[in-house]
Amino acid sequence: YHRYQVELEKKGKLQKQICQVVLDHFEKQYTAELGEAWSTVRDVLTSPWCWQHAVLLNRFSHSPGLESSLAEQGYHAAFPAALPYLPAAFRCYTRTAPGRFPAQKHQPGRLKEYYLLNAASLLPVLALEVKDGEDVLDLCAAPGGKSVAILQCACPGHFHCNEYDDLRSRWLEQTIESFIPDPVINLITVSKLDGRQIGDLQPEFYDKVLVDAPCSNDRSWLFSADPQQAVLRLMQRKELSSLQFQLLRSAVKALRPGGSLVYSTCTLSKAENSDVISLILSSCRNVMPVDISGMARGVSQEFSFLVGMQQHELLVLPEKGRAWGPMCFQVAENFEKGVLRVLGTEL
Ligand SMILES: C[S@@+](CC[C@H](N)C(=O)[O-])C[C@H]1O[C@@H](n2cnc3c(N)ncnc32)[C@H](O)[C@@H]1O
Repeated sequence: YHRYQVELEKKGKLQKQICQVVLDHFEKQYTAELGEAWSTVRDVLTSPWCWQHAVLLNRFSHSPGLESSLAEQGYHAAFPAALPYLPAAFRCYTRTAPGRFPAQKHQPGRLKEYYLLNAASLLPVLALEVKDGEDVLDLCAAPGGKSVAILQCACPGHFHCNEYDDLRSRWLEQTIESFIPDPVINLITVSKLDGRQIGDLQPEFYDKVLVDAPCSNDRSWLFSADPQQAVLRLMQRKELSSLQFQLLRSAVKALRPGGSLVYSTCTLSKAENSDVISLILSSCRNVMPVDISGMARGVSQEFSFLVGMQQHELLVLPEKGRAWGPMCFQVAENFEKGVLRVLGTEL
């Protein structure tokens, strides 16, 4: 035991203990859903000392020495310029070695220079392909990592960041204030609505919608400090799928003809990923899945994906040295009314 403890201390993760009941539950479910791939993923998820963090630079706050100190510490640019959609200002650095670049403290009146995150979180943002002037909705936005990333890609006409939870919504506001300057910040509205209602409140309003849904957060659930609470969460897991479906249905309503949406989660669970999007595709006649297999090929150096997924869905599987994910995302677009409108004018 002593040797184990010393080992843990050396790795600086003494506070993190695996929650056995969650691991047992995942073991059963993910062996059935992922087969052999699960054991590789399990090795990474249960070894926090090999977790990696990416550094997303803030285009609104330049620090002259930052990129050279990242290079000194073995970081390199993460996304290949060959990706079909990679805005020039979007700069993210990763390295294969574990660890984390020092975090920056919030200082009123001073913009932060970078955001530390799981590099896989940037894939749904890139898949959204936001262009300058578009109206964008981030339906479940706190703490704001993806909102900040969206603003590294383009300057939306209007950017609506929503978060239902009061405390987390304040966190979201603080993130935005720490990264986004005047006048860009004036394009942003932060709201505290139930995302399930936004589709009815603002029908056909947005060109792009991101639904980064509340989900079973596999990485953090494995380290639940309170086993009783963990059991409760596992039991309530089914309710998450129905919340996700309702959020997604609201997002579809909020989408303009021709607009597109990305649905993402950080769980491996099929019930919260493929099953939710299948239900949407079969119940909302005006949305079509979008093929994103080209994106997987473009970033295959940096990310490992589950093979055999449908063309509109990607699941990032963490492995040693590429410990990104889990992150599942899917893209759909609203096509029908746009097509009908064109037909209408032709007739
Ligand atoms: C996965 S997190 C979002 C992470 C965020 N997109 C980021 O990149 O920083 C999901 C968020 O959805 C929020 N949420 C839960 N139920 C919601 C609802 N009905 N409407 C809107 N947001 C909700 C949760 O409080 C949580 O902050």
